[in-house]
Amino acid sequence: MKVMAVLSGKGGVGKTTTVANLSAALTNEFRRYIIGIDGNVTTPNLGLHLGIFSFPYTLNDVLDERVSIRDAIHICPNGVRIIPAQLSFESTDVDLTRMRDSLNDIDADLVLIDSCPGLGNEIVPTLKITDEALVVTNPEIPAITDALRATEIAAKYDVPTRGIILNRVRGDKYELSVSEVESVFDAPVISVIPEDPDVRKCIFQGNPVVMARPYSPAAIEFKKLAGSLVGDRYRYSRIDKILWTFRNIFQKDDNEWKYQQTPAITKEVPAPKSVAKKPQETKEPKQSEDVISKLAHLRIKKDTAEASLIGLEEKFSQGSVDGDLYTQLKDRYEQELDAHKKEIAEIEAGINK
Ligand SMILES: Nc1ncnc2c1ncn2[C@@H]1O[C@H](COP(=O)(O)OP(=O)(O)OP(=O)(O)O)[C@@H](O)[C@H]1O
Ligand SMILES: [Mg+2]
Repeated sequence: MKVMAVLSGKGGVGKTTTVANLSAALTNEFRRYIIGIDGNVTTPNLGLHLGIFSFPYTLNDVLDERVSIRDAIHICPNGVRIIPAQLSFESTDVDLTRMRDSLNDIDADLVLIDSCPGLGNEIVPTLKITDEALVVTNPEIPAITDALRATEIAAKYDVPTRGIILNRVRGDKYELSVSEVESVFDAPVISVIPEDPDVRKCIFQGNPVVMARPYSPAAIEFKKLAGSLVGDRYRYSRIDKILWTFRNIFQKDDNEWKYQQTPAITKEVPAPKSVAKKPQETKEPKQSEDVISKLAHLRIKKDTAEASLIGLEEKFSQGSVDGDLYTQLKDRYEQELDAHKKEIAEIEAGINK
């Protein structure tokens, strides 16, 4: 089992985004058993990138030997397994070295560690359990200088740098080119991830861009990189893209749907005056365009949940999904399916009245 750490030196260049997307792509697209570890114990946020806000157990519990490493592996709704960290101010004492043995017991294909910003003491425990580093940088001189120092510090702990990931590339004249970046490092640039507004949007929604916007420019590059790390190749399929786009015309993602219905708060809402209660209206359900389009939207969601269940059963019977993940996903799809069926039945009953 290989342990890779995603380093950068400079903060905010895209380490967590990279770990979240690589873990999601490797788990779902390439069917590998991946564990993402939040090694950023002073400002942990890998869980947030994956839409999880609280965890029963974290890395801190493993290190304090309160639970085993298996207990701290959390399966996110999109199937990604992570060991989250918990905000801790005594974090420089965190000793990840104890974890390496326990990690070896888990038969994962790859462990990806999201490291902390900066190159102080906090990075050392991560480097001690790492086999290879992936260094993320933006194509600007301050980030590149820090990334170079990150590769040097990694080398001191016998951690070779597998490659440089250039993130948030806009392609304008103020950036260093790939060949200029490569001339600085001993390692090659293995991925160029463009600046892509979908990345921010998907972080906001708590689902990595490779899952929520699988054909956005950044998602495609993350998937190519994921494949190259495990000796596989991402096969871009035009037909899949068309099908996905077509489905999304009808099936807006849940958050977008909610946000469109929630008016933005632009000013303070005055306290309500006491108003005499209106007599309860007996509303005739009207078969408006809104109702019809909501019904169509729900039917597509129901079909998708049904298709997901069938797909899951197939994968489980082929042995490509393990028991835990199967049970979690099955419960989720079944709950979704029931909720959609119920809502459809209610709307249909209203229309037929
Ligand atoms: N390719 C991209 N396109 C657009 N925005 C991006 C891209 N990659 C990252 N970002 C934005 O940059 C922000 C910082 O990314 P991220 O949190 O992954 O950085 P980090 O290196 O983990 O930061 P820290 O050092 O604080 O842990 C993200 O919230 C996201 O909004
Ligand atoms: Mg981070």
